[in-house]
Amino acid sequence: MIGVIGATGSTGRALVAALKEKGADFRCLVRDTAAAAEKLGGDVEMVQADLADAASLEAGLQGCDKLFLLSGHSPVMVEQQMNAVNAAKAAGVGHIVKLSGGSFITKEASPAMIGRGHWELEEAIKASGLEWTMLRPGFFMQNFLNMAEMIKGMGKVMMPLPADVPLGMIDVRDTADVAANVLTSDGHAGQTYELSGPNVVPAEAVAAIGEAIGKEIAFVTVPMEGAVGAMKERGMPDWLVDHQSTLMGMAANGEMVSYGNDLIAELSGHAPRTPADFARDFAGAFQG
Ligand SMILES: NC(=O)c1ccc[n+]([C@@H]2O[C@H](COP(=O)([O-])OP(=O)(O)OC[C@H]3O[C@@H](n4cnc5c(N)ncnc54)[C@H](OP(=O)(O)O)[C@@H]3O)[C@@H](O)[C@H]2O)c1
Repeated sequence: MIGVIGATGSTGRALVAALKEKGADFRCLVRDTAAAAEKLGGDVEMVQADLADAASLEAGLQGCDKLFLLSGHSPVMVEQQMNAVNAAKAAGVGHIVKLSGGSFITKEASPAMIGRGHWELEEAIKASGLEWTMLRPGFFMQNFLNMAEMIKGMGKVMMPLPADVPLGMIDVRDTADVAANVLTSDGHAGQTYELSGPNVVPAEAVAAIGEAIGKEIAFVTVPMEGAVGAMKERGMPDWLVDHQSTLMGMAANGEMVSYGNDLIAELSGHAPRTPADFARDFAGAFQG
């Protein structure tokens, strides 16, 4: 039995679809079972559990031999994911598959708070005595969904990035396909998998969205101060504004490039999805 934490999110929903397709035996630990059933389908085994409540995690993981661990950006990510690691140990889980940060931020002295957190968690999992596999994806193509209103309303994407800076992107469905394989086959213990397709430049990704919806979408580079102001105006908390601007600064410097490996194909059995695949399949979100 595989325990899945983070099932209702972007990567998690794709993982649930991939595990269903494989006919895998899995159980999702979710905060709100009714809301999760609407997102994942009523045929998915679920148990109520919260990363802030260690006892609920230990109860939810009873009978699981593997755990997929993911949670969203949060200032309490380390504390909450440590609850899951300790609960996994107590419940007799043998192997944790952690959705981590990209390698360029997952470092002890990373300028990005979330990157330092992922590094601390990876180290704690490695020291836990459990088997482990780390998945380190690149820039999610699904990040563009956060800009859907801008695309619909203004016909452009504004980011503090040069239009031609190379980014190692990944469709979260590829991460999910890799994770589903790792969770259902042997030979992945002690591995850190760096996952991205080939480099894509922002202008190309945005053009693919335009092509999918039959409308020209411009990519506009804005100064970092403008991007910070816009995030604050949208009500983002200071820690998240700091994190996002640090990440964008690193990406703008060319630090978020493709890993240049073939791991997505090797571990998922198919070529990495392209920005055109992403744009075609999510076109509905950018229209209207
Ligand atoms: N965006 C990128 O380009 C990028 C690149 C590399 C790595 N990453 C990493 O990817 C991760 C985010 O992945 P994602 O975008 O797929 O996640 P997401 O869509 O933000 O989903 C977060 C999931 O965590 C669950 N969760 C949050 N707090 C919880 C709690 N207290 N108890 C139980 N469940 C809780 C959420 O459940 P609810 O439905 O209840 O909220 C949801 O299922 C982060 O660790 C990030 O650092 C992101």
